[in-house]
Amino acid sequence: MNEGSGFGAWPRFALFDRAPPVPDATAEVVRGLRGRRKSIPPKYFYDAAGSKLFDAITQLPEYYLTRTEIGILRDRQAAIAEHAAANGCVVEYGSGSSAKARILLDACRPLAYVPVDISRDHLAQSARAVFQDYYPNLAVYPICADYTRPFDLPPPAASLPRLGFFPGSSIGNFEPQAADEFLASLAAGLGVGGCLVVGVDAKKEHGVLTRAYNDDAGVTSRFNRNMLAHVNAATGADFDPDGFEHRAVYNAGAGRIEMYLDAKRDQLVRVDGEEVAFARGEALHTENSYKYAPDEFVAKTECAGFRCLNLWQDERGYFMVLFLQVVESKQG
Ligand code: TRP
Repeated sequence: MNEGSGFGAWPRFALFDRAPPVPDATAEVVRGLRGRRKSIPPKYFYDAAGSKLFDAITQLPEYYLTRTEIGILRDRQAAIAEHAAANGCVVEYGSGSSAKARILLDACRPLAYVPVDISRDHLAQSARAVFQDYYPNLAVYPICADYTRPFDLPPPAASLPRLGFFPGSSIGNFEPQAADEFLASLAAGLGVGGCLVVGVDAKKEHGVLTRAYNDDAGVTSRFNRNMLAHVNAATGADFDPDGFEHRAVYNAGAGRIEMYLDAKRDQLVRVDGEEVAFARGEALHTENSYKYAPDEFVAKTECAGFRCLNLWQDERGYFMVLFLQVVESKQG
C-alpha cells in the first residue's frame, strides 16, 4: 500500500485527532434526570454495542430510511457528479461506517475524503477501509471530532473546493432552531460556492413512521435500552435496562418521532450518590427525530444561506436528498 505523498509532503492517509475533552458525563446525566421531565442526551446511544445495534437498525425491514436514501443516491449519481466541482474534497459529518459516502465518492471522484466522527475506533477502521478500497488518487483524512462544533480541515484538503455530506436524516435529530444554526455553521464552513448533499426523512403517513421506530425484532428497543448500560459504565449509575420499556410515538403537531424509555415499575436509580425515583410508567426521554415536508426543509436551508439546486425523492416520497450550494455565509 502506498501512503506516500500526493499533496506535497503530506501522506495520503492520516487521522487528525481533535476529539474534545470528555465532558463530565456524571454531571451531564444527573442534570437530565433532575428535571420534572427526565431525559438523557442521545449521544449516550453510541458506545461500541450501540454503534453495532444502530448498524442493525439500518438493515431492518421497517426502517426504510437507509435503503431509501441509498437508492436515491445511486439513482442520482450522474446528477451529483455534474453539480460537484472537479478535484474537490468531500467532508462527511458523522461518517459512521462510511457506506453511503462510497456512493458519493464513486460519483464525484474527489481528491480527498474527510470523514468526521466522534467515535474514534469506528472512524479509524472505516476510513482505513475506504482508503484501501478506493482508486489510487483519493487521499483520506479522518478527523475525530464533534462535528457540531467548528473544526479546521486538514491542511492538504483545505484549499480544495468543498462538498459537504450529511446523510441519514441526522439533521432531524436536532431541535428545529438548532438545525437552522447547524445548517448556517455548515454554510460558513463550506464557504460561498461550496456545496452540501443532505438526506432528510419526509413527513408521511403516521403508521409508516411509527413502525420504523418500533420494529418487530425489537432491535430499536435494545438500542434504546443499551443507553442505560452505557450510562452505567460512563457514570457508575445502577440503571436496570430491563426495568425500562422502549416507546416511540409520532407527535404530529411537532412533526417528530419521540423516543422514550418508560419505567416498568417504581424504582430507584443511584447516580453519583443521588437517588433518582422513577414511578411506574414514568417516561425518560432519549431522542427526537423531526420529519420535514420538502418545501419546509428547503426554506430552512435558504434561511441558512443555501440555494437548492436539486431535491430528489424516491417514488413514494418517503425520503429526500438535496443538493445545495452556499450563496452567502451568515457566520464569521
Ligand atoms: N437520524 C436517524 C433517525 O432519526 C437515525 C437515528 C438517530 C435513529 N437516532 C436514532 C434511529 C434512534 C432509531 C433510533 O431515524
